[in-house]
Amino acid sequence: MIDSTDQKVPHTCPPEGVVGWRSPSNIALIKYWGKQPQREQLPANPSLSFTLSHAFTDMWLYWSKRTQADDPIELKLYFEGRPADNFRKRIYDFMLRLLPEMPFLGEYAITIHTRNSFPHSAGIASSASAMSALALCLVEWKYRCRRAVFDLHQHYREVSNLARRASGSACRSVVPQVALWGAHPNVSEASDSYAIPLAKAYRDFAELWKDLILIVDQSPKSISSSQGHALMESHPYAATRYQQATEHLSVLLKAMKEGDVETFGRVVEAEALTLHALMMCSPTPYLLIKPQTLEVIDAIQNWRRTRDLPMYFTLDAGPNVHLLYPQAYEAEIWEFLATALPTFYRNPSRYLADEVGHGPQPLEAQDA
Ligand code: PMV
Repeated sequence: MIDSTDQKVPHTCPPEGVVGWRSPSNIALIKYWGKQPQREQLPANPSLSFTLSHAFTDMWLYWSKRTQADDPIELKLYFEGRPADNFRKRIYDFMLRLLPEMPFLGEYAITIHTRNSFPHSAGIASSASAMSALALCLVEWKYRCRRAVFDLHQHYREVSNLARRASGSACRSVVPQVALWGAHPNVSEASDSYAIPLAKAYRDFAELWKDLILIVDQSPKSISSSQGHALMESHPYAATRYQQATEHLSVLLKAMKEGDVETFGRVVEAEALTLHALMMCSPTPYLLIKPQTLEVIDAIQNWRRTRDLPMYFTLDAGPNVHLLYPQAYEAEIWEFLATALPTFYRNPSRYLADEVGHGPQPLEAQDA
C-alpha cells in the first residue's frame, strides 16, 4: 500500500548500506491476463498462484555517496556478475517513477547485484522473482532510512503493492505457499493492489504440491506479457473471460478447502488452455505454445487416464509445461517422465523440479 505519509517522513538514510533478498517465482493457477485500462497494473480479474521454492532471484542493493550528478538516478546493475543494460533500464525507469515517493533513490549511488537460480535462457519467467526481490530491497531500504524495523510478515502488503507496480504477477511472490491477488466477491480482504495469503486449510493443500517445469523451448517469446495484456483491452471475449476467472476462482477455492484434487486439476487445466485460447483468438492472433507443448500435455493426460494419477498441467505465457502433482506421487512422476517423455528425463537442463515454498528470505551481504 502506498503510505500517504511517505513524503512527510524525513529520510535520513545511513550514508551507505546494503539490503539483500531471495525471492521466488510463482505459478498462476487462475491466470491474470488483462489489466484495468489506465490504472497502474491493476488486474482485470482475480488470480491465484502457488509460490515456488527453487526458482528464485537473489538480489543485493548497495547504496553509497553519489559520484556523478548527471542522471536523476545513479544506478549500476550487474546480472550474474556482468552489466545488464536492458534489465538496468527497466529498473531505472521504475525507480524514476518512484522518485516522488522515494526521494532517497535520487540521493545515493545505487549498485544492484542479482542472479537467478535457474538458467537465464531456460524460458522460465524471471520477472516475478526479480521484481519482487527489487520491491523487497526498496521497501527495506526505506525502513532503514526511517530507522524503523522492516518485518516482511507485517509489511507484506506494502511490498506486494510495490512489486505489482513493477510487474503484476510479482506481487504474488511475496506471499508464502499460495497467494490471491485481485478483488473477489467471496474473499473480503482480497485487493486489486496487493496479494494476500489464504487461511490454513488452503496453505495446507498447497504445501502438498510439486511443480516439475518441463522446458519445451527457450527462445525469446514473440509477444511479451505486456503486449498480451494490452491485446485483452480490445479482445472480443474479454468480459466473459474476466467473469469466468472469478467463477473459476470460487470453484478452485472450494476444491482446495475440501481437498477435492480432481476438481482442482480440472480448473487448473481449463485456466491454462483458456489463457492460450485467448491468445489464439485475440484481435491480433498469436501462438506461444509449440508442437511439443501439445505432445507433453497429451502425455500427461494419457498417463493420468491410464494410471489414475493426480497429475495436471498448467502453462504460463509461453511454451513450457508445469506438471503439478502431490508430493506423495514423486516416484510415479519420475517413472512417467522416464517412460513417456524420455528426452526430458535424459536431459536435466530440460526440466526444473520445484515445489511449493515459503516465500522470500533475507540475504546476508557476504553471500553476494
Ligand atoms: O505479471 P506479468 O505481466 O508478467 O503477467 C503474467 C501473466 C501470466 O503469467 C500468464 C499469468 C499470471 O497470472 O501469472
